[in-house]
Amino acid sequence: MTAQIIDGKIVAKTLREKIKEKVKAYQEKGIVPGLAVILVGKDPASQIYVRKKAEACQECGIKSEVFNLDETTAEKDVLALIESLNQRRDIHGILVQLPLPGHLNAKAVIEAINPAKDVDGLHPLNMGKLLAGNPALIPCTPYGCMKLIESTAYAIRGKNAVVIGRSDLVGKPIAALLLKENATVTICHSHTQNLAEITGKADILVVAVGKPHFITGEMIKPGALVLDVGINRLSTGKITGDVDFSAAAEIAGWITPVPGGVGPMTITMLLENTLEATYEQENILH
Ligand code: GUN
Repeated sequence: MTAQIIDGKIVAKTLREKIKEKVKAYQEKGIVPGLAVILVGKDPASQIYVRKKAEACQECGIKSEVFNLDETTAEKDVLALIESLNQRRDIHGILVQLPLPGHLNAKAVIEAINPAKDVDGLHPLNMGKLLAGNPALIPCTPYGCMKLIESTAYAIRGKNAVVIGRSDLVGKPIAALLLKENATVTICHSHTQNLAEITGKADILVVAVGKPHFITGEMIKPGALVLDVGINRLSTGKITGDVDFSAAAEIAGWITPVPGGVGPMTITMLLENTLEATYEQENILH
């Protein structure tokens, strides 16, 4: 193996220590950062993510409230809950766990969140601010990806960055963040032709496809920095990413493992966003 491993567990741990200190400083001013998490239905993976989010809040001293709503909850009731949370002074962040059941309009639900409390950075106002290069709440996984690149001291400016996947949650925002850092960014998706030709020129390759071993060793430029956002459960129960890790690690310069790469960063950046939202709402010094 030639690649250096980007250890998300270590980077996340360091950030969480800083978050704990910031929470303490808020508490000394009589402020407890508060996060509301809404889960509609009983999707097993979502239940695990929500539980982990609540545990992470507790570990760092952030107050969390989880709202477990029935699978059949009407949209008007979800919107009414969001409106009540928008009004609460003790709730600084609101997150609606995705995906939502099919009868709910996810865009309408997200747009109901007060943008100042949108700790997922998915409200169109925050997405627009990000694209405009203005300060915004940034979606947690892309924010975590940028922190991982930062941890390597890799110079992004002028590099070819290729993002595979164009979701609102990962692909689009990470492309905007890399562009902001002056990379030359290409976004690939399911209709892209000659994918291997494009990935073969990527100095930075971000893969968010949701297909195990989608990226093979031959598709990677020697020395590239590879961020694997995929979390796929194989029939054996093993968790694997979108990149064939062992082949890629022979060619890449830097690579994130799965598990233990991007995953640990996502929840950590949710905590960070909750603190940023608290700061803006309470107008206090960091
Ligand atoms: N489902 C999978 N990832 C996420 C995320 O980052 N935020 C929300 N709200 N739902 C998700």
